[in-house]
Amino acid sequence: MRKNIVAGNWKMNLGYEEGVSLFSEIVNMVKDEVIGNQEVVVCSPFIHLSSIAKLSASVPNVHIGAQNIHQAESGAYTGEVSASQVKSVGAQYVILGHSERRAYFGETDALLAEKLNAALKHGLKPIFCIGETKEERESGRFFDVIKTQLEAGVFHLGQDDFASVVLAYEPVWAIGTGLTASPEEAQEVHAFIRETIAQQYGAEVADATTILYGGSANPSNASTLFAQKDIDGGLIGGASLKSRDFLEIVKVFN
Ligand code: G3P
Repeated sequence: MRKNIVAGNWKMNLGYEEGVSLFSEIVNMVKDEVIGNQEVVVCSPFIHLSSIAKLSASVPNVHIGAQNIHQAESGAYTGEVSASQVKSVGAQYVILGHSERRAYFGETDALLAEKLNAALKHGLKPIFCIGETKEERESGRFFDVIKTQLEAGVFHLGQDDFASVVLAYEPVWAIGTGLTASPEEAQEVHAFIRETIAQQYGAEVADATTILYGGSANPSNASTLFAQKDIDGGLIGGASLKSRDFLEIVKVFN
């Protein structure tokens, strides 16, 4: 049975005290709400990871993640953080391939494949983001775009490594815009992603893969989105910065 995951992506927000305080609020609110095969993940900036890892240690099914890692083991990469370093402070997950990193930092499918390898080597569970831009959606090329992102970024993995990967479909045109994909639009792409995985790794692996939706998900649309057959939860940006909104999204699976 594949996991249902509600993951928060705080992006570049919150000072140290604010972040630790928000995480404490979230843990206190969700600790009795995370049931069955559901998990909650909070992906904070690096500065919070060590402290929130300690807070999450005693709460089952509430985990933390980083939002990026460098692909190298270690070395002269000023300003970068490695997989082993985020693992050493207690991170269990890492977001890779977010559209903002692809767009603003030039992260290519080939580079992301290297980052994926580094994450898996150090026991981090990747939340690997794929999704099309507004232009790619309007031109009707979005299935091709998503298939290429999977083939060039993820499908070099063997079946065992792939089993640790969580995918997140994030239509770029829905991120931060309030223009959430309709449940039908999202389900259509999630089903395509699952079928593409089945062609590569077989139906059993595809059926076991958690595929999250991200892009203006919030308490008013999460239940209809998560009710879709191939949507297994969400990667939440803005709404994860408000503890009550994030709680409402977590409770959708209850
Ligand atoms: O990674 C999740 C993020 O890109 C979605 O952001 O603010 O549209 O929920 P938001």
